[in-house]
Amino acid sequence: MKILVTGGTGYIGSHTVLSLQEAGHDVVVIDNLVNSSEESLRRVAELSGKEAEFHNVDLVDEAAVEQVFAGAGIDAVIHFAGLKAVGESVREPLKYYYNNLVGTLNLIRVMDRHDVRSFVFSSSATVYGEHNPIPYVEKMEIGANNPYGRTKEQIEDILSDLGDADPRWHIALLRYFNPVGAHPSGRIGEDPQGIPNNLVPFIAQVAVGRREKLMVFGGDYDTPDGTCLRDYIHVEDLAEGHVAALNYVAGRAGVFRWNLGSGRGSSVLEVLRSFEKAVGEPIPYEITERRAGDLPAFWADAASALADLGWSTTKTVDQMCEDHWRWQKNNPQGYAS
Ligand code: WQD
Repeated sequence: MKILVTGGTGYIGSHTVLSLQEAGHDVVVIDNLVNSSEESLRRVAELSGKEAEFHNVDLVDEAAVEQVFAGAGIDAVIHFAGLKAVGESVREPLKYYYNNLVGTLNLIRVMDRHDVRSFVFSSSATVYGEHNPIPYVEKMEIGANNPYGRTKEQIEDILSDLGDADPRWHIALLRYFNPVGAHPSGRIGEDPQGIPNNLVPFIAQVAVGRREKLMVFGGDYDTPDGTCLRDYIHVEDLAEGHVAALNYVAGRAGVFRWNLGSGRGSSVLEVLRSFEKAVGEPIPYEITERRAGDLPAFWADAASALADLGWSTTKTVDQMCEDHWRWQKNNPQGYAS
């Protein structure tokens, strides 16, 4: 099929473009490059031997999105494009609501006009909020506790209402846990702009000498080693989960929700130790105050993705750290030359 991937130059997007091409699909990418580099697509082409068609387009520009669809013969869409920093969303909610909601509404309106109704949406475990028991299960009530998470939740609601109103839609809502790692070639990987918000890219930048030390946000949680537990998932497994969901909805109308996670929690210190093993030397860190908004622990119930999609994670935290380190070591400044 010909698949449009929005946000396809980003971390998860670029890995998914590669998996789609390896599965035999043709890929068109829309990205506004606000938080990523087109270099990632050049490297994906090097790995797959296939060029993805690229359009430097912002989804808030509906006319430009319309131009991409006109005559393109797109069969389905995987939608990653969106702002995704929780802290920034608290400081700048309007930017997040406008970009994430208007961009998505433009995209689905253009899809509808072109009779393209197979849609895989990049949602997030953050929609489960702070009141659900762990492990998180798809049928639980959701309630995000930050503007970024609320944009994901509201887009899930929009898509759910659309699917209820119009049975021609085939929609997968994928709730990611904590994506980590890189393609084993070390040629593509996570390249956050500015100071990384997330744990593993920050550790990787300490290891490669770009940052002085890791600040561990809290060592006094009610967990085995006092640090928070999260469900880390290799970005390669995550990309395969998108291909599996796309295949599932290609043949079925309706709205489907799946957690994409390992079903296991790992602590901050466990991940740090694993990364030190990959690097082969200690990584400096300091345990500091808790970060506002962090939950002590959460991980996925991954049963339904296995039952419905035949998909489950295959890679360990050690493999995630080895692959993440190979990318960072070979690309100390990310995609910047
Ligand atoms: C993991 C753990 C931190 C950085 C976030 C978003 C979520 C999703 C995934 C988009 C926590 C600790 C982190 C650091 C640390 N993103 N940490 N020092 O918060 O589970 O989820 O990313 O969808 O929406 O909320 O991931 O990597 O930020 O933190 O100690 O420098 O690492 O306290 O316990 P999180 P994270």
